[in-house]
Amino acid sequence: MTVTLVPSLPTLVTPSRPDPLGVLGVPGEINLDYAASAPCARAAADAVAELLPWYASVHRGAGALSRRCTLAYERARQTVGDFLGARPDDHVIFTRNTTDALNLLARALPAGTTVVTFAGEHHANLLPWPRGSVRLPVPDGPGGAVRSLDAALSELSRDARPGLPVLVAVTGASNVTGERWPVADLARVAHRHGARILVDAAQLAPHAPVDLAALDVDYLALSGHKLYAPFGAGVLVGRADWLDAAPPYLAGGGATSHVGAATHEVRWTTGPARHEAGTPNLLGAVALAAVCGALAGADRDALHAREQALLARLRAGIAALPHVVELRTFGPDAPRVGIVSFVVAGRDSAEVAAHLATAHRIGVRDGLFCAHPLARRLLTEAATRSGRRDLPPTALRASLGLGTTRSDVDALLTALATLP
Ligand SMILES: Cc1ncc(COP(=O)(O)O)c(C=O)c1O
Repeated sequence: MTVTLVPSLPTLVTPSRPDPLGVLGVPGEINLDYAASAPCARAAADAVAELLPWYASVHRGAGALSRRCTLAYERARQTVGDFLGARPDDHVIFTRNTTDALNLLARALPAGTTVVTFAGEHHANLLPWPRGSVRLPVPDGPGGAVRSLDAALSELSRDARPGLPVLVAVTGASNVTGERWPVADLARVAHRHGARILVDAAQLAPHAPVDLAALDVDYLALSGHKLYAPFGAGVLVGRADWLDAAPPYLAGGGATSHVGAATHEVRWTTGPARHEAGTPNLLGAVALAAVCGALAGADRDALHAREQALLARLRAGIAALPHVVELRTFGPDAPRVGIVSFVVAGRDSAEVAAHLATAHRIGVRDGLFCAHPLARRLLTEAATRSGRRDLPPTALRASLGLGTTRSDVDALLTALATLP
């Protein structure tokens, strides 16, 4: 059965674009802020609409509605796990978003774990980690990241911590620059030193296939709302042993196998349910799985090529504007996803963003993008590289996705070229 989700909103349309997910949008509104939250895929909206009449409890009822919802939830887990290349013994845990997933893993770390990360990470991959974590300086290129990690892990294994676990936590693609990190190489280095590796795939997964087994990554986190599934679910996927040994992320119903009469007499279950206490976000999980299923069946190479062409057009257009400076960590030709941050010399970034919105109906992000250490560093670097002393203290970010067109990109470039 298919139910129209929002029959009273005729302006919500699926634009006629070469986009297998049919992302929704509003005519006239140019959305260049996919990296913050991507628009909803028709596949996600349809999956939610189809399930809504059946909406009932998950894992808690014997009725037909409840059984169907339980099945839909567990099928969603399987679909998301398959899409991300989960190994048979990995856990696929539904969370609220990437932040939630990383906090969950942080609480599940065995005692004494050292987390090694880079200063270029989003706050979600900087702040949850325990005291004593190592934050490596932002490298100047993918090769530098690999060398720096190698040196840091060698030092850690020499220094007084034999036998204690180490987790490397890195992003797959930067939310500030869109630059891709050499995840497979970092995983090889981590494993050579006996460490595990987590990939924050919040920005990578919407743009490129991510496969845990192929990359040999131990854990992966992402957010549904950045992957065209805006119904409040994210996921943590990875090795079962630490997760099954850790205290439950939330204590409550669904996470136990036995609760006795005495105050603390409780046995926690193992498996994903251990960390999913309480009634789960069924619609979020189903929406996320619907997008994963649609993307799995799409020609990802063609989507990638199309996005890269749009990105190249945007970056070339920005480079041609003498008053606009791009932010970057690596060299200009480093592989990247459809995200570009930049500054307009002599102009306040919040003011420019407001002007783009009101005068041109273009939505971009401004600020330091929840990656303050990196964004500040890149602003300083941009001033040095451009030789300009009038760069503002915050930046603008344009991000692309499946619904972005050439005319969206051109509209932004024209607007930037004609700022009043
Ligand atoms: C690279 C990266 N990691 C983590 C997050 C946090 O995602 P969420 O806010 O969905 O938890 C973001 C959000 O922008 C991000 O870009």
